[in-house]
Amino acid sequence: MVHDLTGKVALVTGASSGIGRELALALALHGCNVIACARRLPLLEALRAEVAALPWDGASGAPRPGKLAVLRVDVSGEESAIDAAVEDGWKIFEGGIDVLVNNAGIRGPVKDPLDLDEALWDGTFRTNTKGPWLMVKAVGRRMRAAEKQGSIVTITSTAGLERSMLPGGLAYGASKASANQLSKLLALELGKYKIRSNAIAAGLFRSDITDKLFEKAWWPKVAKKIVPMGRWGVVNPDMTSLVILLASDASAYVTGNLFIVDGRHYHKGPSALLATD
Ligand SMILES: NC(=O)c1ccc[n+]([C@@H]2O[C@H](COP(=O)([O-])OP(=O)(O)OC[C@H]3O[C@@H](n4cnc5c(N)ncnc54)[C@H](OP(=O)(O)O)[C@@H]3O)[C@@H](O)[C@H]2O)c1
Repeated sequence: MVHDLTGKVALVTGASSGIGRELALALALHGCNVIACARRLPLLEALRAEVAALPWDGASGAPRPGKLAVLRVDVSGEESAIDAAVEDGWKIFEGGIDVLVNNAGIRGPVKDPLDLDEALWDGTFRTNTKGPWLMVKAVGRRMRAAEKQGSIVTITSTAGLERSMLPGGLAYGASKASANQLSKLLALELGKYKIRSNAIAAGLFRSDITDKLFEKAWWPKVAKKIVPMGRWGVVNPDMTSLVILLASDASAYVTGNLFIVDGRHYHKGPSALLATD
């Protein structure tokens, strides 16, 4: 089933690379108008050009691709700056914003917890936990005022769950665990405004964060050992399909969930690592 998002507007943070870029592209391909946000404007401009050049065959039954606009947002910034950026974003397309995809995030360097700088901890939480909240606050207040039945999707990580604890990632894991809870509590609090909130805890996908790993020749073999599905995630369609569903009215009664998209990795346990092939 193709979800037609024509008439909807989605704001995607962290759309300049990796998962966010592909989510923004997929939303546009489903007819959604997209506000692509990040700090690296040239990358966002390149995405805008790509979306503007998307072909469309009216006879195919596929929605006409939406438009993509670029907006500079630093989600680790001050609340006033985030709110001002969202105010600009709200006015770009007619009808404000229907969908917020809180995707921007940083992993940070691999560090022993006892050597982790306070500034790194703070920066990680500002981006991965406080940023999504400030984005929800800025977008959600406007959704409430406009009586919109909005949808918030927060991209978190299995690093914030017990099934995938990454050594050297204390601040990252803790910030993503907080983001998981943030998303669930928002569903509880914002339901009265008809605003939904769901989180997607991602497993491993190729992006700027993981590029070095994905370049290793042995990396696919690791997936065969520890991912029951036998492969690492591919953003499109493994992540995009769920985000499209959560953006669409087909999921109007779906809120407060934490969806895990990781091929159920590590399910096989350590003994799988000993297997010879
Ligand atoms: N790739 C994976 O395997 C994986 C697994 C689990 C979870 N995730 C999560 O998925 C999300 C996307 O990550 P990715 O893997 O696609 O990494 P990525 O390619 O490095 O993308 C991160 C995005 O976040 C943006 N960003 C970072 N800090 C920001 C800030 N302060 N303000 C605004 N934008 C900011 C970056 O844009 P600018 O630098 O241009 O601002 C970039 O577009 C993250 O939340 C990450 O934790 C990824």
